[in-house]
Amino acid sequence: MILGIGTDLANIERIEKTLARFGDRFRNRVFTEAEQQKAERRADTAGTYAKRWAAKEACSKALGTGLRMGISWKDMAVTNLRTGQPVMHVTGWARERLDAMTPPGHEAIIHVTLTDDHPWAQAFVVIEARPVAGKRPAPEAQP
Ligand SMILES: CC(C)(COP(=O)(O)OP(=O)(O)OC[C@H]1O[C@@H](n2cnc3c(N)ncnc32)[C@H](O)[C@@H]1OP(=O)(O)O)[C@@H](O)C(=O)NCCC(=O)NCCS
Repeated sequence: MILGIGTDLANIERIEKTLARFGDRFRNRVFTEAEQQKAERRADTAGTYAKRWAAKEACSKALGTGLRMGISWKDMAVTNLRTGQPVMHVTGWARERLDAMTPPGHEAIIHVTLTDDHPWAQAFVVIEARPVAGKRPAPEAQP
């Protein structure tokens, strides 16, 4: 079942200006070490940050909280598989919120997809709950 969805559109030029103005204060408040390393070694540094900014906003919406209520930006972080596919990791308050919204006997899976086309970066997040293997009701017990 779907527990939550979220989307966000971020302006890459606005992120670029924020990076120029606030530098490491902005980087360190919003992005994990791994996210910073990825963005800084790319040609499109601002675009890479903007996609991750959008992913965090979208994730906070899917969690039903927005970025209020104590969720820190770094509680939601994006890495990439070797194929390039993005993966969302939640820790701290975001993890607590995810656990609280996950029905008993289920595990939560966070799906994230990113795209950018200058000056826009976009993210969608879907949170799915799947029955944990071995905890499904026996077929004869199902209606
Ligand atoms: C995946 C692909 C369609 C992305 O299209 P694009 O127009 O270049 O880029 P977009 O702006 O739309 O999207 C970029 C985002 O797609 C996501 N993405 C990349 N590869 C992906 C994949 N295999 N599956 C799902 N999402 C992927 C990433 O989140 C990426 O942003 P990020 O690198 O900052 O995290 C394109 O890169 C592709 O076809 N790649 C072929 C596979 C490949 O080259 N793999 C190389 C590693 S094996």
